[in-house]
Amino acid sequence: MNIPLPVALIQALSEARAVAVLTGAGVSAESGVPTFREAQTGLWAEYRPEDLATPEAFHQNPQRVWEWYQWRRDLVAKVGPNPGHDALVEMEAHITARGGAFTLLTQNVDGLHHQAGSQHIYELHGNIQRIKCAQCGIEAQGWTADESPPRCQQLGCNGLLRPDVVWFGESLPQRALQAAIEAAHACEIFFSIGTSALVQPAASLPLMALESDALLVEINPQPTPLTPRADFALQGASGEILPELVERIWG
Ligand code: APR
Repeated sequence: MNIPLPVALIQALSEARAVAVLTGAGVSAESGVPTFREAQTGLWAEYRPEDLATPEAFHQNPQRVWEWYQWRRDLVAKVGPNPGHDALVEMEAHITARGGAFTLLTQNVDGLHHQAGSQHIYELHGNIQRIKCAQCGIEAQGWTADESPPRCQQLGCNGLLRPDVVWFGESLPQRALQAAIEAAHACEIFFSIGTSALVQPAASLPLMALESDALLVEINPQPTPLTPRADFALQGASGEILPELVERIWG
């Protein structure tokens, strides 16, 4: 494979002391994880996102929401990281080995960056494999899927368990969002990869990086609202472009 890559980008990345990367559903596409909308097929096609991924939906029909996430958890359990995830692990290793900072910010809830071996990572929208209590908020350990949804085992709680993901209308985890904002302002290069750059507040992160004079690099087969603002818009699949980029610099 020989993808033409801008020499100026190769030069900048081989010297950068701080790099931040924002990923979205497109990075997991080549692993076979359907995007939220693509996943709404078959049994689930009749529901709108508001029926499946909001606090109101869970309040009204906890069983339906639990089963939708149980279905997605099963689906994710069957897949693994792809060459795009692996290339980001390598990029982190090389940049940190020379004393640089590397921060991975993901909107994906599938945990594939962790599985691949990325270290400094913030999951802005949570993780579907983690379960918490909708009432007391404490992470649940050792739950079983016999009930849908199961109940919290904390003494005196008995609340319903839910996936530890950020639903539409909910706030992002404060610590992760703060770290993301700091990384966006501190980086010299900001990558926006496999995201439609539409869902806030994550969509503002590349703009914050631009405000702080970072180079903005987009990797996406389709144009997004961010494309005209990017210093380098690399049109293609992350599973092809990222390995090529890493290979060209660190061989
Ligand atoms: N490589 C890179 N990008 C790709 C690839 C690929 N192989 N395949 C698809 N894409 C791009 C698409 O062109 C699109 O721009 O990935 C993007 C996916 O966009 P969305 O489905 O909108 O996903 P994302 O941006 O992650 O959505 C943000 O919205 O659905 C909610 O909370 C959910 O975290 C999600 C958030």
